[in-house]
Parts: sequence; C-alpha cells; structure tokens
Amino acid sequence: MDILVVGGGGREHAVIKTLKKSKKCGYIWCLPGNGGIAADAECVPVKATDIDGIVAFAEEKKPNFAVVTPDDPLCMGLVDRLEELGVPCFGPRANAAIIEGSKVFSKQLMKKYGIPTAESRVFTDADEALSFLKTSEYPTVVKADGLALGKGAIIAQTYGEAEKAVRDMMVDKIFGESGSRILVEEFLTGPEVSVLSFTDGKVVVPMVSSMDHKRAKTGDEGLNTGGMGTVAPNPYYTEKIAAQCMEQIFLPTVRAMNAEGRTFRGCLYFGLMLTPKGPKVIEYNCRFGDPETQVVLPLLESDLLDVMLACRNGTLGETEVKFSAGAACCVVLASEGYPQKYKTGYEISLPETKEGENIFIAGAKREGGKLLTAGGRVLGATATAPSLREAVERAYALADRICFENAYKRADIGARALKALEA
Ligand code: AMP
Ligand code: GLY
Repeated sequence: MDILVVGGGGREHAVIKTLKKSKKCGYIWCLPGNGGIAADAECVPVKATDIDGIVAFAEEKKPNFAVVTPDDPLCMGLVDRLEELGVPCFGPRANAAIIEGSKVFSKQLMKKYGIPTAESRVFTDADEALSFLKTSEYPTVVKADGLALGKGAIIAQTYGEAEKAVRDMMVDKIFGESGSRILVEEFLTGPEVSVLSFTDGKVVVPMVSSMDHKRAKTGDEGLNTGGMGTVAPNPYYTEKIAAQCMEQIFLPTVRAMNAEGRTFRGCLYFGLMLTPKGPKVIEYNCRFGDPETQVVLPLLESDLLDVMLACRNGTLGETEVKFSAGAACCVVLASEGYPQKYKTGYEISLPETKEGENIFIAGAKREGGKLLTAGGRVLGATATAPSLREAVERAYALADRICFENAYKRADIGARALKALEA
C-alpha cells in the first residue's frame, strides 16, 4: 500500500518509521516532511495547511491510504476532501476534529454528557470576562477557544495577569479569530497524564500512557513549549485509574461524539489531570501528540498500518493492539533560545543507532548532502528498555552522541516519573 503522510515533525517521523515495519507498507510520501524524514520517505514541499495542494497531489499520485496527523489540516477538513476523492484516511473528519478545534465545543460536550472536567464560563465580550475575573479566585485559567499552537492556555496568578491574557486574546487578537471567544476555567491540580487512543467510533483502545514535559527549562522552569521530552508509561496512571478513565471519560466521549452526529475515527488524545476528586479532562486533541508519539509508537508491538486501517474501516474491535511491557523516553534537542528567538543552519551529526534507539527528526533541512538545523525543536533522541530508569539512561546516552551547535536539552526528562515510581 502506498501511503501519503501529512505533516513534517518528529511525530510524523515516528509514524513513518513505525508504518515501515508493516509488511503491507509500500511507498511513502510525506508532505512536507523535513530533511530528516527524507531518509525514510519522499518529502514533497507542500504545506500541511495547503489543502488544495495536498488534494491535487493525491489526485495525481493516487495513494492507497493517507495519514493526517497535524491539527490544522484535520480541522480544515482535509480528511473530508481526501475521502471524497476516494483516498481512505486515518484521522477524523472536520466535524469531529472540532473536539480540539474549539475548546468551547469540547467543554459543552463534556457538560452535556457528564464527562469530568474543570468548571468554566464562556465569554465573547472582553468587558464581561474582565468583570467576572475581578471576583474570581486565583490562580485561574484563561483559554482561547480555537487553535493557538499550544499557547492558548494562560494560568493567571493574579487579576493583572488574567486581564493581560484577556486583552491579548480578545482585543489584540494575538491568536487571531481563535481568541474571539474565551473560556475562564477553574484551576485544577494533580499529575498530568497523556492518553492517546485509537478509535473507530465504536470501540476505543487506549495506547500506553505517557508524560509530557512542557516547560523549556530543567526543573519545570521557563516558558511553555510544544514539549521538551516524554516518557511512557506514566507511573501515576495506575490500572485502577485507567479503568476509571475508560468508564467515565473514554467511552462516554466516543459515545457523545456519535450522539452528536460527529463520529470520531482516528487518534483521540485525552489530556488528563489526576485531581484529588478523580481524573478530569484538561483537553482533547484530535490527533497524535508530539512528542508523546515518539515514546508511544516504539512500544507498539502490533502492526500500526493494520490498526490505522481498522480505525478507518470500523473493525478495531477485531484487531490486535498490543504494547510492550517496557518503557520509553524521548529527550528533545532544541535550538538554544526556543521557544523564543533561536538561530538555525548548524550541521547535525547523527550517530549510528542500536536496536531500541531512534532519532526522530523534527526541525532539519538537507542542503548539499548535509543535515542542518531548521527549527526550534530539532530532534528527539528516543530509547526503549525493559524499565523506565534504563530507558531514560539510554535516551540521554543517545542524546549525548548527537552533535550540533547551539543544542539545548532539559536535564530532567523522566526525573519526576522515576521519583513517583520509587515513592
Ligand atoms: P491546554 O492548552 O488546554 O492543553 O493547556 C495547556 C496546559 O495548561 C496543560 O497541559 C496544563 O498544564 C495547564 N492547564 C490547562 N487547563 C488547566 C486547568 N484547568 N487547571 C490547571 N492547569 C491547567
Ligand atoms: N504534546 C502535546 C501535544 O501534542 O498537544
């Protein structure tokens, strides 16, 4: 089967490397891909948001299957367009991708169907939001309704900070139309867990749980980023909590989407907080997480292409989805300065990798036979091992063998998880 993969980060590199293990996998095109992915697929410079461009490419090449992973094209209806063309897809249609595309939609869905989440209020008027915030308890959370590159949630410690967030979003429109509606949300506490799941709209099969490290600096300091590293499984996510999540969150969400006429097929990502009052949904994503995918897929023992086809065809209940009992860690090497200003164009030297090690490239370009840095997050050094401690050690040992100027990594990916395991 010839496959079209849309996207161009470390997540897509992990997806492609895992698809290639399938006997059914034929040729792979990646739009746009990147200089590192080019070692594993034909990268074609069509942006993931260029819906017409991707559709024209698919019309010409006639792939047998397409995998759409980034949020923007999913919310823009790329799967609808490709399916119309006769290309079966892994990924939700636009009417289901809204579960990530609009936080107001997902809040209303959770309220209507009794799915546990933070209390919240919706505002379309800045003055009304501000007068509500004057009497709120702090900290509180201000969120833009729409997609905002993962930067749309502000934890405000004071009224002043909340006021700035409201003005940024609603008046100065720093996220464009995404901020024309906002949510003011109760501040929750507890460990965070990411659970990616496969669903065909009938059954939902959670993947191994994971833990992201969103802050830029060691010790959870600095700005929020797209993610500086991940581990799997997440030690806070016990079997008991998993069973509770299945009953109170995962199945109710899939059923709720069906009841709304918005059947979700693809990867449904549950961002959870394990609060003293039980697990609650912080956010839904309509796609694989980045860099969660980089630790989850190396632990998948089943054939990813078979599983993706089953999600598309409604046969997931009859398909094996098995994960290894081991652990994985991904340490992101970023360009110094990320998520703010940083320099690129430095040559990357990659070591040989051994069994259980993977280097997933996120931001690199190929020029004159050389691989050069080309983004904030450059790559993820990933390793699997029988235990989390060994996985973390192996991932750091691999990261230490990778060289490029201006490289920055956190020193404590997995530290909190290991502490929790030993507690
Ligand atoms: P989101 O964009 O909704 O994924 O939020 C980004 C991050 O903000 C989450 O991963 C949490 O760490 C934090 N966050 C979001 N909502 C809340 C909340 N209600 N209470 C506490 N922290 C939150
Ligand atoms: N790592 C979080 C996300 O992909 O949204």
